[in-house]
Amino acid sequence: MPGHSPVPRPAQPGNPPGPGQPQPLDSGTLALAALPTSPFWVRRYTRSFLDSCPGMNEDTAETAELLVSELVTNAVRFAGNPTRTLRYSERANASLISLSIRHFRDGLLIEVYDTDSNPPTRSHTDDYAESGRGLMLVDALSKEWSYFFPPGGGKVVYCFLEIR
Ligand SMILES: Nc1ncnc2c1ncn2[C@@H]1O[C@H](COP(=O)(O)OP(=O)(O)O)[C@@H](O)[C@H]1O
Ligand SMILES: [Mg+2]
Repeated sequence: MPGHSPVPRPAQPGNPPGPGQPQPLDSGTLALAALPTSPFWVRRYTRSFLDSCPGMNEDTAETAELLVSELVTNAVRFAGNPTRTLRYSERANASLISLSIRHFRDGLLIEVYDTDSNPPTRSHTDDYAESGRGLMLVDALSKEWSYFFPPGGGKVVYCFLEIR
């Protein structure tokens, strides 16, 4: 896609941008256990974070909520904990997911970390009609999306949502 300004290079959620990288106007992170309730909480967090960003428009905020929800739903589904077998005493060891949102003048950089090291690409075994819509949506709504493997393991799936 033709870009006028470079998309900021993603970092591991929570890490500040490196030297020479654009500074966000606002940034926020949320880490939580990977449970079926996580998409609800990250949506809520995203909404309150974006409401606190001066000048944020409603269209961008709604799209960001949708993107975050798809990415976190995947993180829970593919790296999450089976709630039925996760006792309260075991929840301290639950796998974590984390969300980072950075607000730049021209867009939002959304990153979702999970502990699974498989890339977010469809395998042949899950090649049925209902699967694959989430990332199609991410692809359609963001300027760019991809993933990377941070040195400590797991992966980060990120997307950049342009502010028009
Ligand atoms: N965070 C993730 N970790 C591992 N695999 C993933 C992740 N996100 C997506 N995938 C893979 O990419 C496929 C497509 O994801 P998606 O488009 O959201 O469809 P769905 O969630 O309905 O399967 C998934 O079925 C899965 O195989
Ligand atoms: Mg999905």
